[in-house]
Amino acid sequence: MPRASATEPATPPNPPPPDAAQQRPVLEIKGLKVHYRTTGGDVAAVDGVDLTVRRGEILGIAGESGSGKSTMAVSLLRLLRPPGYVAGGEIAFHPSEGPSVDLLKVDERRLRALRWRALSYLPQGSMNSMNPVMRVGDQFRDVILEHAGRRRGEIDEMIPRLLRSMGLDPGVSRMYPHELSGGMKQRVLMAMSIALEPDLVVADEPTTALDVTIQRVILQSLGDLRDQFGVTLVVISHDMGVHAQLVDRVAVMYEGRVVEVGDVRQVFKQPQHPYTRSLIESIPRIGDAPWQHRNQQPGGRQQRESEVR
Ligand SMILES: Nc1ncnc2c1ncn2[C@@H]1O[C@H](COP(=O)(O)OP(=O)(O)O)[C@@H](O)[C@H]1O
Ligand SMILES: [Mg+2]
Repeated sequence: MPRASATEPATPPNPPPPDAAQQRPVLEIKGLKVHYRTTGGDVAAVDGVDLTVRRGEILGIAGESGSGKSTMAVSLLRLLRPPGYVAGGEIAFHPSEGPSVDLLKVDERRLRALRWRALSYLPQGSMNSMNPVMRVGDQFRDVILEHAGRRRGEIDEMIPRLLRSMGLDPGVSRMYPHELSGGMKQRVLMAMSIALEPDLVVADEPTTALDVTIQRVILQSLGDLRDQFGVTLVVISHDMGVHAQLVDRVAVMYEGRVVEVGDVRQVFKQPQHPYTRSLIESIPRIGDAPWQHRNQQPGGRQQRESEVR
């Protein structure tokens, strides 16, 4: 087996323990259709998507800008705003505690109870949406207090541990967002997203707008989330390089449809759909396909970058 490198698809995780609840998928999207009403008529941004998220996996959602990735994400979190509307389908969510629900039908109260506790979401550009006048630790505490009946002392113990798990100094807690780099903010949000031990974290373009070195740190931290906390991750990115480095399986979206889904190594080795092939070929790099150059990465890319900010 060739040595793993920066761009080679990640090694699949150890299989989760085989008890019944563990074997059930976390999420099952069936026939999802999401449209936007426009003056020129309806746009089918998500056009009949079937997709299963297995417990414990990192599922990547690929596809160029405009292919419907974010629309699908906001729909499953029920955060879709007009002129968008769900035109059909179901989204079965199977939390490890409590009954399964159809996220498209469940009432607001139950949905609020699920957010953060069972289902966390890091929206595209979320690191720019932190409250600028509140210290990181206070924002953290608010999220936990609002969504879980934890005692203050308990929360104050959790925060440094969570920050550390994302490679951040607990002192970050006393800082304001503007004092943090983009990569640090992203890691703070990731630490928040797992604070209440959700079954599923959905991260939309978590590395976009970060420079390459910081991207690698974030990808490493996302991998750590799964390894340390056993959380299931859906990582949305237009960048096939991200999927190559991080995910177990990848679903490729094109014009609102999933045109291909499979084990990431398999998809990279033998893409079935011409669109997937063109996405892989468009990964920006010197030379050809990443796996043909895996032993020729510049040394700097291999470093463990948890210290890099
Ligand atoms: N508010 C909106 N009104 C009309 N069309 C929209 C709106 N938001 C997104 N779209 C359209 O939906 C499609 C999918 O967009 P999006 O889900 O943001 O894709 P991605 O996240 O893959 O870049 C695009 O064609 C986009 O133009
Ligand atoms: Mg998007």
